[in-house]
Amino acid sequence: APARFTLDPAFAVGDVNPRLFGSFVEHLGRCVYTGIYEPDHPSADESGLRTDVLELIRELGVTTIRYPGGNFVSGYKWEDSVGPVDERPRRLDLAWRSTETNRFGLSEYIAFLKKVGPQAEPMMAINLGTRGVAEALELQEYANHPAGTALSDLRVAHGDKDPFGIRLWCLGNEMDGPWQTGHKTADEYGRLAAETARAMRQIDPELELVACGSSSQAMPTFAEWEAKVLAETYDLVDYISLHAYYQPHDGDIDSFLASAVDMESFIENVVATCDHIGARLKSKKKINLSFDEWNVWYTTEWHEIENSAARDWAEAPRLLENNYSVLDAVVFGSLLIALLRHADRVTVACLAQLVNVIAPILTEPGGPAWKQTTFFPFSQASRYGRGQVLDVRVDSPTYETKKFGSVPLLHATAVRDPETGAVTVFAVNRSQTEPLPLEVALNGLELTNVVEHMALADADPEAKNTVDEPERVTPHTVTGTALQDGTLTATLEPLSWNVIRLA
Ligand code: AHR
Repeated sequence: APARFTLDPAFAVGDVNPRLFGSFVEHLGRCVYTGIYEPDHPSADESGLRTDVLELIRELGVTTIRYPGGNFVSGYKWEDSVGPVDERPRRLDLAWRSTETNRFGLSEYIAFLKKVGPQAEPMMAINLGTRGVAEALELQEYANHPAGTALSDLRVAHGDKDPFGIRLWCLGNEMDGPWQTGHKTADEYGRLAAETARAMRQIDPELELVACGSSSQAMPTFAEWEAKVLAETYDLVDYISLHAYYQPHDGDIDSFLASAVDMESFIENVVATCDHIGARLKSKKKINLSFDEWNVWYTTEWHEIENSAARDWAEAPRLLENNYSVLDAVVFGSLLIALLRHADRVTVACLAQLVNVIAPILTEPGGPAWKQTTFFPFSQASRYGRGQVLDVRVDSPTYETKKFGSVPLLHATAVRDPETGAVTVFAVNRSQTEPLPLEVALNGLELTNVVEHMALADADPEAKNTVDEPERVTPHTVTGTALQDGTLTATLEPLSWNVIRLA
């Protein structure tokens, strides 16, 4: 039987915030050094940025870019990362057991964003692991105050006359995780986040602040953490964060393909928790969700090398360099669909991360940069997933999974451009073996033709793009997709990510 749904512009979820297509640059492995920044590379510009990588980042279509961590931020001393490069100290990075040279720092990050383009917005995390309110205020003064005070004048003396204008700030990172330097209980963190937010707003009430939620839905403190933190911070913050990473466990590909079931329930559970605290406080304010770390990540591989001697304080070591397959890209596309389906409350999201470290772009030092399989769903969603998300309720054949029970084979969303009326359907077929016929009834939409149907699928779901074969996997055009008498019909290949554009 075909999978079916109906689209009607009268039933919309909400508008997509461009920040949904954010990403993340952490001082971790080779994300910064030999990733975005490599002064000796043949393509490097006058600032040491790799222009081959910059070009790919622009094509990827990322907006907000979170920085400088991640776990790294919980030991970050912002003042090490500014001023004359040759005078910057080398430091131990406890989070990744690496040496941080600070050759790339705050000013370089802002300059990098400018080169990415006008859509690139800073999202700065502050250190609430080893530091607190005072250092957050100092960083804010250095970064955002125009001039005429010690720290703003220091920025000017360092060559940055214009303030950085950082509006979006993360109050720490994964403070619920026992691995975090300066890990805290929900009560401890809630108080610190509230006091930091209150003080930062004394400088600038217009800031947008993200409180740390849970590092994953599986954390033992999940939901209670959010409730306690929000009870302290509800009036002082705008967002609560969510982080989630997925991988197959024990070869269970069927459950892996249904990872978005977990992601959607995580989102819905956090929304419920936020609204519960809002109800208790009799508040009209709504807290939105910042899904500021999400991806496929083979964490078990990482845990195997986590404590190995190979990690002894190297500079920019090869860490977390996952090479993604077609299967990974299909799951990744499904995670994008999950975010879009909740665009009313998820108004910031950051793909973790941008280059080399669990990233859509890989590089070789001194060598090429190329697109991973996951590059394609992200760039297509960022390009065509702008506008209004329409409510999609699928009536689909199902399959059995060990983790999530019975799951629909079809996972889908649709986004309508309010200016042109064009609609793009994003759809994943979770079946590993069977094509899935699709029928979409188009109500009240003046659509007459299929502009294109692109898919990412392969006879070999393990196919990857590598340095030797950088274009092994790319999206292809699907033929036979039709729009007639208000009904769209298509066939989704087994294990495929699909983008169907209608006008
Ligand atoms: O993105 C990699 C790491 O995952 C981040 O540093 C941390 O916040 C999370 O655990």
